[in-house]
Amino acid sequence: MDAASDNKSALKSALGDKARQFISRPRQMLINGQWVEALSGKTFQTLDPATGSVITEISEGDAADIDRAVKAARAAYEDSPWATMTPSARERLLHRVADLIEENADELAELEALDNGKNKAIARAVDIQVAIETFRYMAGWPSKITGDVLPLSVPFAPDQKFFGYTLREPVGVVGQIIPWNFPLLMCAWKMAPALASGCTIVLKPAEETPLTALRLGELICEAGFPDGVVNIVPGFGHTAGAALTAHEEVDKIAFTGSTEVGKIIAKAAADTMKNVSLELGGKSPAIIMPDADLDVAIPGAASAIFFNQGQVCCAGSRLFVPDQHYDRVLEGLADNASTLRIGPGLDPENMINPLVSETQLNRVMNYIDIGRREGASVIAGGRRRGETGYFVEPTILADTHRDMTVVREEIFGPVLCVQRYNDVNEVIRMANDTIYGLGASLWTRDVGNIINIVPKIKAGTVWVNCHNILDVAMPFGGFKQSGYGRELGKEVLELYTHTKSVCIMA
Ligand code: NAI
Ligand code: MG
Repeated sequence: MDAASDNKSALKSALGDKARQFISRPRQMLINGQWVEALSGKTFQTLDPATGSVITEISEGDAADIDRAVKAARAAYEDSPWATMTPSARERLLHRVADLIEENADELAELEALDNGKNKAIARAVDIQVAIETFRYMAGWPSKITGDVLPLSVPFAPDQKFFGYTLREPVGVVGQIIPWNFPLLMCAWKMAPALASGCTIVLKPAEETPLTALRLGELICEAGFPDGVVNIVPGFGHTAGAALTAHEEVDKIAFTGSTEVGKIIAKAAADTMKNVSLELGGKSPAIIMPDADLDVAIPGAASAIFFNQGQVCCAGSRLFVPDQHYDRVLEGLADNASTLRIGPGLDPENMINPLVSETQLNRVMNYIDIGRREGASVIAGGRRRGETGYFVEPTILADTHRDMTVVREEIFGPVLCVQRYNDVNEVIRMANDTIYGLGASLWTRDVGNIINIVPKIKAGTVWVNCHNILDVAMPFGGFKQSGYGRELGKEVLELYTHTKSVCIMA
């Protein structure tokens, strides 16, 4: 056996029987409760980022498949047991999905680690667990989505009695397009609130990572949802994704991905005046204040960028360090980076795993080269690791400044840009000096700093003494070009319901 196939069989043997069985044959798409092939008969390959080898073939949906999926979702929305199901019955179905994810958690974590490349233990503890919690939290909502009774005064009909109230109704058929960095978690964030609200769904997973969405589709069938409520069509963005965005029978598009594609989607959706919510890129600042506890801030800043290989929309990719701590923080970060073991995610000891694809590998390596050329000092990492798989060393670029490409653009890899500052007002300006506004973190022990600085930061989430902490109760979304709409919490229900006013004349 050559090294590559040796590696491949070693990875496969790290899988349990269920995961191995799932990838042992081509996977189809879920339309109207049936597993079907693409009408074109086409398939695409999903790859293992640790080796570049093929995991299995996936049916490749295009406009024709999107059309049948949307028709199924429309029929289920208008005229199926789902349309008249009581809120408590919807709650039970959502709880059932959570239970089924939990029962199959190890298999899902393995499939996620294989398809995305990430650490299997982290996938279990974060991706899969958060998916379970998301379905459970959202399962609580159907019986609690209420309208208001309105005290009407109708000035031009003072002698008439009116009774006014509002209903919160599902928006209808929703198209959901998700990325590859947290494949199952993104399914849960999108599907659970849409289902809690009574919508029906056509979801397109990312072409890089379709496996866990398709396994979730099986669990949704097992849970007993009526046919057509959830449809899952794997395929590419410019074909399946674009067709979903353009389809006349889709009422809403929810998208997570690049700002570039978010703009394309918002423009395309305007033609049919769809509701749109966009969760886009970021270049989130982490600000170490002069009074910070550096024993907390240094490992915190490292994990803010290195978690999930930096493939996190709110990753702390710009770090601001006060002059007096600059050398100590850089040294601590470099030490931290050097301790992270690099290797395939199916071995849970490996803390830096491959990037998702060769495209992302090339993108990230290109940014590191640009950073070097623009004068950044590479104080840790900076190289690809190995010749198979898409591994990049955890990389720290010091002495960066606002005009550098690596500071302005989202890299989406394990690459931290460190900038120094000497004045608090200056660092707030520097932190906000970006087209993005997704997350930010402040590292300080001074409550006055928190109270004064948090309102000045233009970001949808501000963390204090932590970063990348997301909770299903906490709304998440962007300012500026990081998008609009808030996922999670009770705010997300705004995305999947609309208000109907009712006025009755007595
Ligand atoms: P992308 O934005 O192209 O892909 C995300 C999803 O959108 C995928 O499902 C894709 O098939 C779909 N898509 C692509 N073009 C589409 C179109 N014209 N119409 C409808 N759907 C479309 O992101 P990509 O290419 O995977 O990554 C490129 C960069 O985007 C990354 O380097 C990173 O900077 C950023 N990104 C940000 C994410 C986030 O969570 N904010 C997630 C993934 C990528
Ligand atoms: Mg793309």
